[in-house]
Amino acid sequence: MSPSTIPPGGGRPVAVYGRGARIRDEQGREFIDGSSGAVCVNLGHGVPEVLDALRSQAERITFVHRSQLAHRAVDELSTEILSIAGADYREVVYTNSGSEATETALRLALHHHADGPGDRSVVLTQRPSYHGMTAGALGVSAHPSRRTGLDALLDGSTASVPVTAADADRPLPDLADWKAAFDQVGHDRVAAVLVEPIGGAASGAEEIPAEVMRGLRALCDESGALLAVDEVMTGFGRAGAWFAHLGSDARPDLVVTGKGLSAGYTPIGACLVGTRVLPGRSATELAFGHTMSGNPLSAATALAVLRYTREHRLPERARRVGGELHGRLSAIAARYRFLGEPRGRGLLLALPVLQDAAGHREEPLNRRICSAAEAAGLILYPAGIDRATQSVLVTPPLTVDDSELEDLLTRLDSALATVGRTE
Ligand SMILES: Cc1ncc(COP(=O)(O)O)c(C=O)c1O
Repeated sequence: MSPSTIPPGGGRPVAVYGRGARIRDEQGREFIDGSSGAVCVNLGHGVPEVLDALRSQAERITFVHRSQLAHRAVDELSTEILSIAGADYREVVYTNSGSEATETALRLALHHHADGPGDRSVVLTQRPSYHGMTAGALGVSAHPSRRTGLDALLDGSTASVPVTAADADRPLPDLADWKAAFDQVGHDRVAAVLVEPIGGAASGAEEIPAEVMRGLRALCDESGALLAVDEVMTGFGRAGAWFAHLGSDARPDLVVTGKGLSAGYTPIGACLVGTRVLPGRSATELAFGHTMSGNPLSAATALAVLRYTREHRLPERARRVGGELHGRLSAIAARYRFLGEPRGRGLLLALPVLQDAAGHREEPLNRRICSAAEAAGLILYPAGIDRATQSVLVTPPLTVDDSELEDLLTRLDSALATVGRTE
């Protein structure tokens, strides 16, 4: 098909309205948003409290530049985020996306070591991982298909070493793998370790065990490297706690956030800066940022999102509802030989797709499941970078109610049955 024949919207249904986990398209068809968009619409669509905050901020002032004027919504958002993150963090640097928040963490890590001895410029990351599409963030991501054709852009980016499990049966590196990577690179050359506590697009909800997180903290402390966690997908309640790294007692130096910070109501990301990073210096000024970083409209909206999340105890709700959904998905998966036992935490769940005999087909099985789901009125998100991680994310809004959940499961079952007939 030539580019000129690609229909507007790529031929996808055209969304016109959303409430809760339900979206309606131009034809009047209804979809259950079983993935919260790209795992960001944590509160569901059309929450009146958030829309009111957005509208009333828009009517007062939408933009001031942080180098010229301050704004109360931005200050209040920082206070709210820091009160959630706790005493180990001192500053919030704003961006417009998770990718930019990753870039910010990388820049801060390099600045942190700039005046120290030697050359600390290597960032250790994990395979699989995904940290964003901007050059620096993609440069440290072990997501081959998203890097394809971009070598010229990525070669000059941050020196990153994706740490891989030595044993192909393990999806993620263990502590011995991480130690070997530190030894190989040189402990005094590592600027930072950057990991997703629970993976999303790349690993399909594989979780770093608490003892590995603790071990990484210790390795970073011994070597002087910073520990950065990417909580773009997991942060602000998605994984059943405010942050997924709270599952271990390892406190990172930098926390990268996005998505759930505004629950999809406006573009915003943020990097939380720990007390030990660049002490006495303004991380916001050092990171420099972007024109729209920390604009009042996004800040007021995110503030309303976080207040709603706190008032409605959505992290706890995600844990409880996620536990129930995990059980229901497990029962469904047991009936399809091409599905494995679900994994994940809270409402960040993944159905592993056991690679089909049909790995040879043009479209991977997880994508075919997502297409069949869409035809059944359910939106899901395909994940994974290889046969071992191929999966479908099931990540409805943290507010999902019983009737939405029942519809999600019924439509999922019917999509799987359709796919199963061709397997
Ligand atoms: C873990 C993780 N980090 C970073 C990003 C990039 O965020 P954004 O798409 O907002 O730039 C994503 C997006 O999917 C993500 O899941």
